[in-house]
Amino acid sequence: MNDNHCDFLVIGSGIAGLCYAIHAAEFGSVIMITKKQDSDSNTNYAQGGIACVLSENDSFEKHIEDTITAGSELCNPESVRIVVEEGPARLKELLQWGVSFSKSRSTDNPYDFHLGKEGGHSENRIVHAKDLTGKELEDTLLRRVRSLNNVAIYENHFAVELITDHHLKKESLPGTCYGAYVLDCVERSVFKVRAKTTCVSTGGAGRVYLHTTNPAIATGDGVAMAYRAGARVANMEFIQFHPTTLYHPDADSFLISEALRGYGAVLRDRSGNAFMDKYHKSGSLAPRDIVARAIDNEMKISGEPCVFLDIRDKPEQETKQQFPNIFKRCLKHGIDITKELIPVVPAAHYICGGIVVNHTGNTDIANLYACGETAYTGVHGANRLASNSLLEALVFSYRAVHDAAIKVTTNTVPKACQIPDWDDSGTHDFEEWILLSHNFNEIRSVMWDYVGIVRSDLRLHRALRRIDLLEKEIENFYKKTRITPQLLELRNIVTISRLIITSALRRKESRGLHYTTDHSKLNNRYWRKDTVLRKKSE
Ligand code: SIN
Repeated sequence: MNDNHCDFLVIGSGIAGLCYAIHAAEFGSVIMITKKQDSDSNTNYAQGGIACVLSENDSFEKHIEDTITAGSELCNPESVRIVVEEGPARLKELLQWGVSFSKSRSTDNPYDFHLGKEGGHSENRIVHAKDLTGKELEDTLLRRVRSLNNVAIYENHFAVELITDHHLKKESLPGTCYGAYVLDCVERSVFKVRAKTTCVSTGGAGRVYLHTTNPAIATGDGVAMAYRAGARVANMEFIQFHPTTLYHPDADSFLISEALRGYGAVLRDRSGNAFMDKYHKSGSLAPRDIVARAIDNEMKISGEPCVFLDIRDKPEQETKQQFPNIFKRCLKHGIDITKELIPVVPAAHYICGGIVVNHTGNTDIANLYACGETAYTGVHGANRLASNSLLEALVFSYRAVHDAAIKVTTNTVPKACQIPDWDDSGTHDFEEWILLSHNFNEIRSVMWDYVGIVRSDLRLHRALRRIDLLEKEIENFYKKTRITPQLLELRNIVTISRLIITSALRRKESRGLHYTTDHSKLNNRYWRKDTVLRKKSE
């Protein structure tokens, strides 16, 4: 059986995983595993950019205040300060690695960026590469990772479970991590990757919802796996719904970046009324939770299936030049955004909660780190400020890898014989794989219908009953079946669904992204705290 070992195991290949791997390679051997192609990640789809204090008008204090205000008093102030203050140094590093951002005018000054604006930001501070920031980052960082001799990239490999003391028959929880059991998705065999340190950076979980801006890989694998291994997860109820995705049957919730509203696009109803002024003083550029709920409300009142974004007033050439990706994609669906209204609806976009980590990316499990959307650092609180997530991934992956680098000097890799091989005896191939996709669709519909933008106790309990049933069915199936990537994703997504619903039911108030009609007010007296879940002690 295949057996591998390394100093640093990195699970996931988005911005957090790639940056972690690049730095880790300075200190030792790295194995990066990714369940599809190395470029399949949420990062690749990010349009907006990286929020960073760079202009003379801006200050760290302003960015910190904007972040904390958006987070509805639930941000960890120290985490926010770290991210904001260390952001410029990390951005500089990206430039050194060859990432190219849009400039404000043709000049040789590498820092003369065109700074965009997005909802909730008091200043222009979004560094971007037109409307394809994620792709620019992913392509450049991947090129760099591929050029490093001591990084091995395993594509089409899926982390099944973290290897912890539990597998070594030591009963301590949360214990220590020694690597992961990994499925070779092509060969369909599971082998061990033994590691001195392991980092989970598997991205988000948007696919838990029927409508999402996230790609198919976003099934919350890292959070589900770390939770099963005994790590705490927090604030899973705070799901950010992006207010504006293209409403078109063939568009698969294509994101219409908030940067378009920063540039001047206005939200209108079918009759042309700019309705956002009724909801917030910042109008169409209000924070995302407010805009998404306002759109939901407008659609409920009017019975219309969407609202509209209007950018027709802006100069045609400038719009095409700044938003080439959005322009092209909408045109493909028959909408010329320079002349026509863009039909939009909200869709699940980002999860603010995740695996609890400290300021150096350590989880509760020794030698296990988490960074990126998978981690809960406390930066986003109850609502993430636009374009803060790439920044958080950069800063915290750097901190995590430098902490891990100290550990690899003293940690040892357990011998292969000390860790049991993956045991799939008694499992069989299944003939009705179609039932898996039925389960998947069922979960996504339940979550969309009952655990969406506006919640209630009745809806959440209804969702929990259905998810409980599905979880039992899937677990039973998992025990008997030879695993496939689809089965692993299904198992993870049902765990994530339960974590979201359980957290939402616990929070008896409305705050940030969690809005419930049964507890519609903010309740600082009892609920200005994180919702923390841990297996067994729940
Ligand atoms: C967007 O471009 O609107 C998304 C950016 C983000 O979610 O931070």
